[in-house]
Amino acid sequence: MSTAVVDVTVRPLVAGDLAALDRMERTLFGISAWSRQMLADELVGPGRTYVGATLPGGSLVGYAGIWFDGRDAQVMTVATDPGYQGRGIARRMLGVLLERARDLRAESVLLEVRVDNAPAIHLYESLGFTQLGRRRGYYQPENVDAWTMQLLLPRPAADEGER
Ligand SMILES: CC(C)(COP(=O)(O)OP(=O)(O)OC[C@H]1O[C@@H](n2cnc3c(N)ncnc32)[C@H](O)[C@@H]1OP(=O)(O)O)[C@@H](O)C(=O)NCCC(=O)NCCS
Repeated sequence: MSTAVVDVTVRPLVAGDLAALDRMERTLFGISAWSRQMLADELVGPGRTYVGATLPGGSLVGYAGIWFDGRDAQVMTVATDPGYQGRGIARRMLGVLLERARDLRAESVLLEVRVDNAPAIHLYESLGFTQLGRRRGYYQPENVDAWTMQLLLPRPAADEGER
């Protein structure tokens, strides 16, 4: 299979995406997968921004979301269909979400990631995230630790002096 960068459209997720989301979520996260109801609640939850990556034909091949709490943004999830990984899709989606966090004037973006998830850790580090600390047994029932990671979003100089 080619691993060339694939041309996807990154757009907001809508309720009509739930069936595809549910399938991908169970494939990618197994016993830790969110239920379809949890996914539905997330899409419309307060402060949430969820995006999906679609192929030219419209098929959903990735999704990602953040929650802005009024101060910081938290990455809630990032996932790419196994058949399309390694082609820049998660990087594209996170780029859109980091832009959204900047527009919301978030001070930082935070996330948790399994300490054994090398692809995700490389992705986050390549975007400038750094490790803040280790949370023991954060992922249950597997009992796997998480790194907490942070990306500071300094305000543009033009904003200084604004109230
Ligand atoms: C982590 C995940 C979202 C990455 O998605 P992706 O679309 O394949 O990522 P991209 O192609 O945009 O890759 C971006 C960067 O991630 C890193 N990366 C991706 N796959 C990698 C791998 N297999 N090994 C090491 N680094 C990898 C690289 O730094 C890569 O940048 P580069 O191609 O310039 O070297 C994907 O592997 C996935 O869905 N995993 C299962 C769900 C998951 O673990 N989500 C994260 C929860 S915190």
